[in-house]
Amino acid sequence: GKVAVLMGGRSAEREVSLMSGAGVLQALQERGVDAHAFDPAERDLAELKREGFSRCFIALHGRFGEDGTVQGALELLGIPYTGSGVLASSVAMDKVMTKRIWSAVGLPTPGWRQVDSAQATREAFASLGSPMIVKPAREGSTIGLTKVVNAAQCEEAYRLAAQHDPLVLCEQFIAGDEVTCPVLGTGDAARALPVIRIVAPDGNYDYQNKYFTDDTKYLVPCGLPEGEEVRIQALVLEAFKTLGCRGWARADVMIDATTRKPYLLEINTSPGMTGHSLVPMSARAAGIAYPDLCVQVLAAATL
Ligand code: DAL
Ligand code: MG
Repeated sequence: GKVAVLMGGRSAEREVSLMSGAGVLQALQERGVDAHAFDPAERDLAELKREGFSRCFIALHGRFGEDGTVQGALELLGIPYTGSGVLASSVAMDKVMTKRIWSAVGLPTPGWRQVDSAQATREAFASLGSPMIVKPAREGSTIGLTKVVNAAQCEEAYRLAAQHDPLVLCEQFIAGDEVTCPVLGTGDAARALPVIRIVAPDGNYDYQNKYFTDDTKYLVPCGLPEGEEVRIQALVLEAFKTLGCRGWARADVMIDATTRKPYLLEINTSPGMTGHSLVPMSARAAGIAYPDLCVQVLAAATL
C-alpha cells in the first residue's frame, strides 16, 4: 500500500527533517515502494487515513514528531509507523526524564541539574563544575546549547536554552571521545551497529558542523581500544531497552578521556537520515546500504 514519509514538521529541527525525509523518500521509491512526502506542518494527519496511506515512515525530528505526539495521533488513526511508540518517544525527547530513568537503573549519565532561572544555572555551575553544558531538555541537533566555562556565561546560556524550552538542563561536560551508536530492531532482535567516533573541528560538533561543513571527521571503524566498542554497544542496547524503544534509534555517548568510562547523553528515537547523518554511516559499515536501511526500518513499522 501507500507509504507516507512524514517530514518537515514544526520543530526547530524542521530543516534537518526535510533533508532526512528527502533521502528516505528517494530511497524508498528507488526500492519500488509507493512512497509520498507528507508534511504535518502543512496538512492534517487525518488526511493520511482519507487518502488511504497504510504505513508511515517518521522522518520528523524534535517536538511534534519525535516526542510521542505524532505517534499518538497515528495510534488513534490506526496507521502503523516506524520507530518507538508513544511512551518511549515521549521520554526520550525529554533529556531530564531520560536521565532520571537511566540513573534509576544504574546506567551511567553525566551529573545534572534541572534549572528554571539564570541564578539556578549559576548555582548548578558552582556545584557541577566546569565545563558545563546548558541545553533545552527537549530539543535536538545541539540547538540552544552552550558550553559554559565561566560563571559569567550562565545568564546568556540559560536565556538561549529557555528560548527553545522552559525546561532547561545543566549537565557536566565529559571531556574525551564523542561517539554515537545506532540500534536496529526490537526486543530480543535488537542489535547495536558499529560505533562511530566523531572528531569535530575544535571539538565543536554544533549544528553547522553536523549538517553543513565537511570539516567534521567520522571514524568508523571507531578506532577505540580493544573491548571498548563492544562495551559501548552493550551499554547502548541496554539504554534502548530500558526506555522501551522500538525499531531503531541512536544513542550519543561521551567517553571520559582519563577513566575511559562511557556516559550516556541521550537517545534519538528518530535519528537523522541526511547525507551527513550517522545512522546511515554506521549501517553502511555493517553492510547495510542506505535504501536497505530505509526498507528495514519501514518493514518494522507497527502500531
Ligand atoms: N536530532 C538529530 C536529527 C539526530 O539525532 O540525528
Ligand atoms: Mg538529539
